[in-house]
Amino acid sequence: MKHVLQSRQFDRELIEKIFAETDRLRLDFDSPFVRAQLRKTLLGRLMFCIFYEPSTRTRLSFTAAAHHLGMTVTHTENAKEFSSAIKGETLEDTMRVLNGYYPDVIVLRHSETGAAERAAEVSSAVVINAGDGMGQHPTQALLDLYTISSELRRIDGITVMIGGDLARGRTVRSLAYLLGKYSNIHIIFVSPPELAIGEDIKQYLSRHEVTYIETQDINSHIGDADVVYWTRVQKERLLVGCQDTSVFDGYRIGPAELLRMKHESIILHPLPRVGEIDVAVDHDHRAAYFRQSDNGMFVRMALLRYLFS
Ligand code: CP
Repeated sequence: MKHVLQSRQFDRELIEKIFAETDRLRLDFDSPFVRAQLRKTLLGRLMFCIFYEPSTRTRLSFTAAAHHLGMTVTHTENAKEFSSAIKGETLEDTMRVLNGYYPDVIVLRHSETGAAERAAEVSSAVVINAGDGMGQHPTQALLDLYTISSELRRIDGITVMIGGDLARGRTVRSLAYLLGKYSNIHIIFVSPPELAIGEDIKQYLSRHEVTYIETQDINSHIGDADVVYWTRVQKERLLVGCQDTSVFDGYRIGPAELLRMKHESIILHPLPRVGEIDVAVDHDHRAAYFRQSDNGMFVRMALLRYLFS
């Protein structure tokens, strides 16, 4: 694997290798001795984090992962304004210039779908797609799937309810691609019609024998779900024919929805949430979204070790 651009690149064998490494990292991380040893593993490696869109989790968990492995990190946040993009420089030219500084990896977030592929075309350094428009967010999908595996102790045979902005949410697309690698998966897509999942994902799922239904009704199906994966409305992305984000009002997970869920299910959210999961849910044992976010750093450490060790 030269670049990390799409979740489809990962096969089960590699996913399981990364998850086993993530388990090991999590288990031993409280030990100061282990952390000191880890900081020697990728010493001298250089990471550039170039983010043209806002981020809290992805940017800082990659930065923290790199720090804990001894890498040096240089970053530009808000690269749209704080890099020479504001003067009109193309992404391709920026990548060519950055490659001249001998980075090992460029972690790139961009507002345009396909930007990571364009960057990879002209980059000798590994490009990791940290989210490209409505396209993909492969490391988010890895940490989502890792959390499912870690919390439920299985992936094959699960039912996943995926709700929210399915039209524009790149985490949904990326997770759907990874779920397609597993057996006997059933997906319940919940959204208003304006924000429904794309045909390309449905075709991919059918090809990979993942069964799915589409519904606007949370309540009739939430009791079947092993995983409830909820997402926010991506107001920052235009969607032709849908400017009215109030279509999503009512698609919320709160105490009433908890009552209908299985006792041993989990609720995930890539975060940030903006009201679509009630804070009253946070104290329930099934609310796994902050554990999911914690896992992000370890999954990214495991991925960096796989790429460079
Ligand atoms: N989940 C996620 O990508 O969060 P950030 O936008 O904060 O990186």
